[in-house]
Amino acid sequence: MNNGINYQFTKIFDRSVIGVSILFTLSISLTSWAQLRLDSFKPGELWPDTDGKHINAHGGGFLYSNGTYYWYGEHKGKESSAQVGVRVYSSKDLYNWKNEGVALSVSHDSNSEIVPGCVIERPKVIFNEKTNTYVMWFHLELKGQGYAAAKTAVATSNNPVGPFKFLKSFRPNAGYWPVGFQKELKNKTYGKEYEKWWTPVWKQGLDEGMFVNRDLEKGQMSRDMTLYVDTDGKAYHIHASEENQTLHISELTDDFLDFTDRWARILPGGQNEAPAIFKEGKYYYLITSGLTGWEPNAARSFRATSIWGPWIALGNPAIGIESEVTFRSQSTYVLPVFGKPSAYIFMADRWNPKNHIDGRYIWLPITLTDDNRLIIEWMDEWNLDWFNKI
Ligand code: GAL
Repeated sequence: MNNGINYQFTKIFDRSVIGVSILFTLSISLTSWAQLRLDSFKPGELWPDTDGKHINAHGGGFLYSNGTYYWYGEHKGKESSAQVGVRVYSSKDLYNWKNEGVALSVSHDSNSEIVPGCVIERPKVIFNEKTNTYVMWFHLELKGQGYAAAKTAVATSNNPVGPFKFLKSFRPNAGYWPVGFQKELKNKTYGKEYEKWWTPVWKQGLDEGMFVNRDLEKGQMSRDMTLYVDTDGKAYHIHASEENQTLHISELTDDFLDFTDRWARILPGGQNEAPAIFKEGKYYYLITSGLTGWEPNAARSFRATSIWGPWIALGNPAIGIESEVTFRSQSTYVLPVFGKPSAYIFMADRWNPKNHIDGRYIWLPITLTDDNRLIIEWMDEWNLDWFNKI
């Protein structure tokens, strides 16, 4: 009996000693991982923040302010819906990111539009110099409505890391026609023959603006989105609209908190989403994806001399193995590297719809060719010195 007790005790003791030593070793290795300073990008791998945790900022947007980069993104759990809100990280070097917490939190007031279970996607933040305010826009879908609401939403803060205060959500451009919309199409009625998707007559209706017509009074749909502040200080909101079939670009008011009535259709019927835009010299470049939800597809790229278009198609910027699925990722942003001329990073999400928190980040440098096209090539590992070679 005694022996039995001793034996049990020894077993428990042994186990706890082993447990403690495993824990000890684990905490040592976690600490050293956490303290490890990164000096390169490894696209598609786990990306530990300065606490050693995989970065949780999907569909990201970036802001550079006073020597610091801020990375805003969707905080995801296993599921995609918003349970926490928009997370923000900061970095001085783009490799090492410090978790700065939740920039925009979901609200536990049941009357709010951003309750847990809503969809908050692709948050982007810009700074308004006139009002000294950080302005966040994001794609909002209301809880329990799938992707039917198709709204854009805005929040503000005096601090880049927040807390951001949710202001409002809406469908853009209610009551306003896009620039250049043909007068005779404004009064056109679209009959039953236009209702069946993917027929030639439906496609013709789509291209000429039947969905713009349909949504004129209640406002245009706004799903995947991005923001862009031009060199003259004017800001634009670019979003997937018309049942995701056409991108819209809208000018923001001077305080960046609203839309002016000026907007245009980009590539009508072009089926582009996940827009990412940048400007080099006299050209604007736009990178998008096609429409396959969380599944990757071939990226597209476009060039224009005016942000209002026309946009010229340049083809898939990705080349090499898996370029037909953009290295299994979907664009979210193009970041100009501060202080390095012509240095742009293509940023994309490799979604994991089975476990969204495990989504990976694909960052790759963009090559601008002599004939003003874009090339993105896969690299297992690279760092900012890559840009010194161009
Ligand atoms: C993708 C889109 C994502 C998300 C997803 C939902 O096409 O880019 O942001 O909305 O669809 O299925």
